[in-house]
Amino acid sequence: MEVEGDETYNLIRRHLLNARGFDISGYSRSFLNRSVRKRAGRLGCESGMEYIGRLRKDEEEVNELIAALSVNVTDFFRDADAFAALSKLVLQPLVETKIRLGWSALRIWSAGCATGQETYSIAICVAEELKKADPDRNLVVRIVGTDLSSSALEIARTGIYAKERMRGVSRRLLKEYFSASESGYEVTPELRRMTKFSKGNLLDRPTGKFLDVIVCRNVIIYFSRVVHDQVIDNFVRVLKPGGYLMLGRTETLMGPRRQLFEAVDHENRIFRKPLTPMSLSGL
Ligand SMILES: C[S@@+](CC[C@H](N)C(=O)[O-])C[C@H]1O[C@@H](n2cnc3c(N)ncnc32)[C@H](O)[C@@H]1O
Repeated sequence: MEVEGDETYNLIRRHLLNARGFDISGYSRSFLNRSVRKRAGRLGCESGMEYIGRLRKDEEEVNELIAALSVNVTDFFRDADAFAALSKLVLQPLVETKIRLGWSALRIWSAGCATGQETYSIAICVAEELKKADPDRNLVVRIVGTDLSSSALEIARTGIYAKERMRGVSRRLLKEYFSASESGYEVTPELRRMTKFSKGNLLDRPTGKFLDVIVCRNVIIYFSRVVHDQVIDNFVRVLKPGGYLMLGRTETLMGPRRQLFEAVDHENRIFRKPLTPMSLSGL
């Protein structure tokens, strides 16, 4: 099937940009061709135009193509230092403060969670902090993982991962938070109780509010500047004053959006929404 022609490329580019604000102009053509060919092959499309026809009428295929282009690559504790910083600078003080003040819930959003490893890694970090601070565990923890890709979320919901995907998990944590089964390692009921997965596009206006933490790693790097701004504005809307945002190591806040946060740990891309909100016109 021919996807290399300029016409096919331009039609796909324009459709993703118009439908989702997803800009593929920065992608290498060979990566793009491979990804589109793979998706089209799965659907049995024999030409680029047939695939574009499918994209135009099938929202779910737009999601799957964007997911394929955003590379669903993920891991448990991807960047171990970043998760250590998240525990120390964000989760530990939050858990301690909430318990001390008698507040009832800790709300975290793992945005662009792919197959769930990030969400469960956060849940493990929270569980570890709870153990230190609150042996009675009366703090309710809600960690929601969202992604565009239904197939990635299906895997996340099973909570079962093959042995070779467990590289980032230490022996102690493996023993404590997983049970070995025939199909791999399965997360414990404790992690399941804390986590939930649902489908969502980061470009849509989010419905929740008053989140304590948003972890969005290795996602916005694929977005154009306009979409970056839109997604960050959405995060600002749902974060509590004093709430935290964590991005991936190669990502950062751009332009005026930087002023909406204080830097907590620049290297690990941890930011905090000030207690007295700063504002940008139009937000
Ligand atoms: C490279 S993975 C990152 C996974 C995880 N956050 C990590 O750092 O390991 C990027 C994920 O972002 C998701 N994604 C891309 N665009 C999205 C959007 N507009 N809304 C929600 N998820 C999106 C993709 O489906 C993919 O699963």
